[in-house]
Amino acid sequence: MHNLEHIREYSRRRQRFMASIGPGSVALIFATGEKRRNADVEYLFRPHSDFVYLTGFHEPDGLLVLAPSHPTMEEVLFVRARDVAAEQWNGRRLGAERVRETLGIENGFTIEEYSDVIPSLLDGRDALHADQDVETSHQVEVWLNSMKESGLAPPEERVELEDTLHELRLIKSDAEIETMQKAADISAAAHQRAMRYCKPGISELALESELQHEFALRGARFTAYPSIVASGPNGCIMHYIQNDRTIEDGDLILIDAGCEYRYYASDITRTFPANGRFTPQQREIYELVLSAQLAAIDQVKTGHLFTDPHDTSTRVLAQGLLDLGILKGSLDEVLEQELAKPFTVHRCSHFLGLDVHDVGKREIDGEARALEPGMVLTVEPGLYFGNAETMPDLDPSLHDIGIRIEDDVVVTENGNRVLSVDLPKSADDVEALMAG
Ligand code: GLY
Ligand code: MN
Ligand code: MN
Repeated sequence: MHNLEHIREYSRRRQRFMASIGPGSVALIFATGEKRRNADVEYLFRPHSDFVYLTGFHEPDGLLVLAPSHPTMEEVLFVRARDVAAEQWNGRRLGAERVRETLGIENGFTIEEYSDVIPSLLDGRDALHADQDVETSHQVEVWLNSMKESGLAPPEERVELEDTLHELRLIKSDAEIETMQKAADISAAAHQRAMRYCKPGISELALESELQHEFALRGARFTAYPSIVASGPNGCIMHYIQNDRTIEDGDLILIDAGCEYRYYASDITRTFPANGRFTPQQREIYELVLSAQLAAIDQVKTGHLFTDPHDTSTRVLAQGLLDLGILKGSLDEVLEQELAKPFTVHRCSHFLGLDVHDVGKREIDGEARALEPGMVLTVEPGLYFGNAETMPDLDPSLHDIGIRIEDDVVVTENGNRVLSVDLPKSADDVEALMAG
């Protein structure tokens, strides 16, 4: 985005958020700080998604204060002060004096100015909107107490952000969807690279490095979550991230990996044969999972419920397990008694956005919510057959098979758009890609 357009996008978000909390409220949105790894080394910093959403700013220790209809300062951003010596060691800082022209936020202050400015922003407001994060809550309590001691009137009510800011984050703007498309494109390219490179005898870590390389080459330095590169039996471990096994001939490889691009997540899973050819049994189960996934994607539509993709994929998988003779009984019995659950394990969808498991309520008043244009969710059914220890009654030829297929899907006015649509997923297309 051009800088002016960029400024306008974030300004619109702040305006909409302020309209949702209403005059008389004040919101504190913290970037959070760096975390120490060990002597002189910090973990790579990534600001809190609420802060990024409203500012587009990425330095640690920032604080955005929004006070709708405040007589003098509606929008205030506190940032680290310029410091030539610190900047020579640890990189450039924006500084309070450049907040307005760079970010379009009217009032920039340094964090050293907290105690001069914060009381006047909070005084007389009735509700304080903030995340109840332990670290930042402590800071807020200190401010509120010192205001009381000086005879000021801090807000009495504390409100979580889930009904306001997180509802805004749930519906993505065109600019956000464009960024998420880019994230999905980069991840799709990385998956293709890993599939092409894969062969028996290499390590899972070598495959992970192919993903990392492609992410970085295309401008995505971070992953949205630690990449899962699971070969053979590891495919049955949902969040396998050890990635240190040597890949064997005949294994299936389950890669669940997505980059974070400009703070937006992608989350894609493909499962493929290490040697480039599915066995007939692997193919049969793969095609069952794929048919469940395609049926579930068809359920992603404005007005359908958040749970519809899950219910549909569960039904298809349950029928498939009956057809394969792995489950016995009627489809209704299997669904009612949740007999497929040991094989399907997890839910089929979650929201996706700045966070991989993104904010936004899946239920309203205890009922699944309806999908709306601009929501983005994953569709990711799987089947997992465990091993002799966890599933002793199963035909041993099924043991250690774990298959998941995951795509990122935007709800549109007329249906949906699959952001990761260009990444091959039919068994034939996967084999063709690996042969090419
Ligand atoms: N990679 C985490 C998930 O698929 O939800
Ligand atoms: Mn995933
Ligand atoms: Mn997911």
